Amino acid sequence: MTDTKPLIDTIRAAAALPYEKAVTLPGAAYSDEALFAHERNTVLAKGWHCLGRCDEVPEAGDFFTADLLGEPLLIVRGDDGAIRVLSNLCRHRLMPLAEGRGTADKFVCSYHAWSYARDGALRSAPRMKNTALETDTCRLPAYRSEEWRGFLYVTLDDNAPPLADALADLEGIIAPYHTQDFRVIHSTEEVWRCNWKCLVENFMEGYHLSVVHPVTLHGYTPSALSRKFEGGSGFTGYHANYPQSIPPRGAGHSGLNEEERHRSTLFCVYPCQVVSQAANLLASLYLKPLAVDAVRVKWTLSVWQDEFDEAAIAERIALWEEVNREDREKLERLQPGLASSRADAGSLAPADYEGTIHDFHGYLAQHM
Ligand code: FES
Ligand SMILES: [Fe+2]
Repeated sequence: MTDTKPLIDTIRAAAALPYEKAVTLPGAAYSDEALFAHERNTVLAKGWHCLGRCDEVPEAGDFFTADLLGEPLLIVRGDDGAIRVLSNLCRHRLMPLAEGRGTADKFVCSYHAWSYARDGALRSAPRMKNTALETDTCRLPAYRSEEWRGFLYVTLDDNAPPLADALADLEGIIAPYHTQDFRVIHSTEEVWRCNWKCLVENFMEGYHLSVVHPVTLHGYTPSALSRKFEGGSGFTGYHANYPQSIPPRGAGHSGLNEEERHRSTLFCVYPCQVVSQAANLLASLYLKPLAVDAVRVKWTLSVWQDEFDEAAIAERIALWEEVNREDREKLERLQPGLASSRADAGSLAPADYEGTIHDFHGYLAQHM
C-alpha cells in the first residue's frame, strides 16, 4: 500500500486556497487505491449517509435493504411508527435476513428459520436449547439514524456529532420548499464506473450544465445563471436560476416567493448525498462508494402533492433518466485517464460555477 500522506497534503493545500485561486485535485485523488481505503476509514466511515426518503417505507412493516461500505442494512418502519436502521444479519450465523424491498409482518431467516419482529427483537429460534442464548434480549443491532426534511440518514460511527447541527444553515434556504412533504414517485439504483467524489463534484457545479445538458437542462438552468450560496460544516450548494423569460415551472408550497419558484437549489449533504430542490420537484442521489472507480447510485424523484398528473410524472422521470445518463457518460469517460502520470491538478472556475467543489475539498481536507 502506498503512502497516502503526500496526496492528503495536496488536498489540504488545495483546500486552503482562496476561491479566486482554487484548483482541482490531481487525478490520483480519484484513482489511488490507498487513498480510497483511507477515505473508507475516515470521511466515509464517520460521515452521515442518506439512505433515501422516509416515505419509501410509509407503513409499519415496510422495509428496504441497502449495503453501505460493506455493512448490510435493513431499513424498516416499526409498529411504533419509527424507522430503524438495523443490521441485516441474522444473529445465529449471520445470514443476510431480508432482501430487496417489501412489507413484512416479521423477518424469518432463510437458513434455520429464526424470526425477528419489525423492531429487530428475536421472536423465535426453533429447537434452540442453548442456555447461553438470551432470547429476551437478543435482537438485530441498530445503527444511529436521523431524519431530516423527509430524508433518512445513518452513520456507522456511534460517536459522530448529530447531523442536524451541521445542516442548521441549510435549513433557512430549504425550509420554504417544505421538502418533508414531498411524495416519492420513483426510486432506482445503478452502478456507475467512476470515483464517488467525481460524481459529487459533477452534480454540484453549474459550469457543465449548458455544455453537457444542452437539451435537457440548459433551457431553464443555463450555466451562466448559477449562483453559489455560502456552505456550512455539513453542506454546500448553489442556486441554478431560471431565465426571466420562462414561466415558473410549478407552484409548490404556497409560501414560496417568485424568486424561490424561479430556480432549482442544488445542495450536497456531505459526504455522499446530492439533491436538486425545485418548487414542485425533488431529485436526490445517494452514493454508496464500492471501489476507487465504482459507486452504487440510488436516486429518487419526489413531487409536490398532486401537482403532476401521471403523464407529467412519466415525463419528469424520463427527463431525469436522460440527465443522469448524460452525466454518467462523461464521468465514466473521465475515470480511466485519472490514473495517468500527467493527470495534474487544474484550475477551478469562479465560485458561482465551481466554488462548491472547492467547499467539498475543504470538507475532505478536514475529515481525512
Ligand atoms: S443463520 Fe439465521 S437462523 Fe441460522
Ligand atoms: Fe449534470
